[in-house]
Amino acid sequence: MQENGSLVAVTLQDRVLEIRLNRPEKKNALNGEMYSAMTEALQNASASPETRVVLFAGGPNCFTSGNDLMDFMTGMSAGENHPVVHFLRALLSFEKPMIAAVNGAAVGIGTTLLLHCDLAYASGDAWFQMPFVNLGLCPEAASSVLLPLAAGPRRASETILLGRRFSAEDAHSWGLLNGLTASGQADDAARDAARLLAAQPPEAVRVSRRLLREPFRQAAEDALNRELAAFLARLTSPEAAESFAAFFEKRPPDFSKFS
Ligand code: COA
Repeated sequence: MQENGSLVAVTLQDRVLEIRLNRPEKKNALNGEMYSAMTEALQNASASPETRVVLFAGGPNCFTSGNDLMDFMTGMSAGENHPVVHFLRALLSFEKPMIAAVNGAAVGIGTTLLLHCDLAYASGDAWFQMPFVNLGLCPEAASSVLLPLAAGPRRASETILLGRRFSAEDAHSWGLLNGLTASGQADDAARDAARLLAAQPPEAVRVSRRLLREPFRQAAEDALNRELAAFLARLTSPEAAESFAAFFEKRPPDFSKFS
């Protein structure tokens, strides 16, 4: 058992490393400290034979409200050295199976994280959203390639360009989830799957996982690089400034003046 900062609780049990987001007062919005804690957890998991599976989870009512918008507002001038970027690169290169358990809202990276997980479970009342365009931003975490692959190009266009919320039922029928559970029970389903995976022969799991991912690995990495360049530029755009200000002023954004 280890603890990795209070905003992200990291625990190891039966060779399953749980990375649990724990910032309920901000709906588990992810700040730099949390990204760094998750990156460190993945790096440790990679190096440790004691970890065979990683499980991402949030709270009983909220997985995560996505990136901390206050961090976005202050820009990401560190660029390639920003904790978000370190986390995304660690996620893409991680070689052990990852599972997600989603209860409640999964916004932004909360949804795109699922595209990197081998298995994902959500409670029936969970919901998903990638409001990148709504925020004046663009897709991240290689989702511009992985989402069309997973859910089809039409749904990818709809969920990215309109940035609409979609239900767990939709996510399941589109192939983004392995299973739906009763309200608040996603963790149990994910833990059951994690236990089964952790009992499988680890080398066979690693080899099979690599084979499953290899056809898309380079495409995902290239997409991540393209997205990062565009995303960092979008963060300081007037459209993004308007959307961030609107969120914290608790009003709808007004994009009417932009051409
Ligand atoms: N970044 C920073 N702060 C956030 C946040 C985020 N992504 N999401 C929520 N918060 C903060 C709110 O500002 C609020 O803080 P306050 O109590 O100091 O006012 C607190 O967390 C609770 O959020 P609130 O919006 O009141 O909760 P809700 O249950 O009404 O709504 C959401 C939950 C997730 C629907 C809503 O918070 C939301 O839309 N968040 C932003 C999602 C987003 O755009 N993320 C970026 C994706 S790239």
